[in-house]
Amino acid sequence: MDRNEIAGIGEIGLLGEVVSGQPLLAVEISADYPEKPRVLDRVSFVIRPAEILGLIGQSGSGKSTIALAVPRLLELRGGRIRGSIRFCGRDLMTCNASQLRHIRGSEIALVPQSPMSALNPALRIETHLREAWRAHRREGWAFAKEPTRDLLIRMGLPADDAFLRRLPRQLSVGQAQRVVIAMAVMHRPKLLIADEATSALDPVSQNEILALFRKLNREMQMAILYVSHDLASVGRLCHTVGILEGGRLIQCGPAAGLLASLAVADGRLPGAPGGTDDRFLSSVNQPLFCEG
Ligand SMILES: Nc1ncnc2c1ncn2[C@@H]1O[C@H](COP(=O)(O)OP(=O)(O)OP(=O)(O)O)[C@@H](O)[C@H]1O
Ligand SMILES: [Mg+2]
Repeated sequence: MDRNEIAGIGEIGLLGEVVSGQPLLAVEISADYPEKPRVLDRVSFVIRPAEILGLIGQSGSGKSTIALAVPRLLELRGGRIRGSIRFCGRDLMTCNASQLRHIRGSEIALVPQSPMSALNPALRIETHLREAWRAHRREGWAFAKEPTRDLLIRMGLPADDAFLRRLPRQLSVGQAQRVVIAMAVMHRPKLLIADEATSALDPVSQNEILALFRKLNREMQMAILYVSHDLASVGRLCHTVGILEGGRLIQCGPAAGLLASLAVADGRLPGAPGGTDDRFLSSVNQPLFCEG
């Protein structure tokens, strides 16, 4: 592997926004927690290569449960999954722990709901990046350090030694989110799962992260499962949208049509307690593939 290929944003060239071909991921699952059965009830969807699927729904509808279930992390949280999770022709439900460890991080990466909780408060940023590197590569950190600095710069982060020496508490939430995303895309996964990756951010940082996701999608053909309750960002980023309600996927289809039909329904998600979501209504008028 060439050094320049590490998270080689910009190395591959623009690959366009064509979403076609065989599914990269085909999910048909139900899931339970010990004290909450049927938290997901026969949820079924596909993601094609380079597709961005937005998953929206009320709080508690099961979005994070899906985000954890796809890379088979739900069991580590005490959950149980039934069904199939076909990824690149393999059923992840039949993979053993070692196969799953390989797939996670190198082929499927998760940006979890809280960036700060994804970072170890006792470890410096460089240590986080080095560990993320060593999880999937034999070459030493000396090999990867400079390309990783390039990656940080592409993420809009400082890449100097002083920044690498910082602890997570010395970062802003937006910087922490970018570090977590840098760790997630370091090995150029085919699928990035982002769970509320922009929800905790101010509008400027939110726009920058959305632009970053568009860039990763277009330049690396990275498919993204974008979990959010922020309909505006979903409207701006996603090709397709799935709506989750009470653990069931009640609608799934092209983003423009589905979000427009929600606009007709007064900008509310099905099952929402009422009221117009202005953020959502404003998103309907925005171009789906606007440049960041
Ligand atoms: N470890 C757990 N044990 C038992 N129940 C859980 C557990 N984790 C989540 N749940 C329940 O499962 C349901 C789905 O939770 P989940 O976190 O997937 O929702 P969500 O759509 O991501 O919500 P939010 O938008 O608030 O992040 C909720 O009712 C939640 O209380
Ligand atoms: Mg959640």
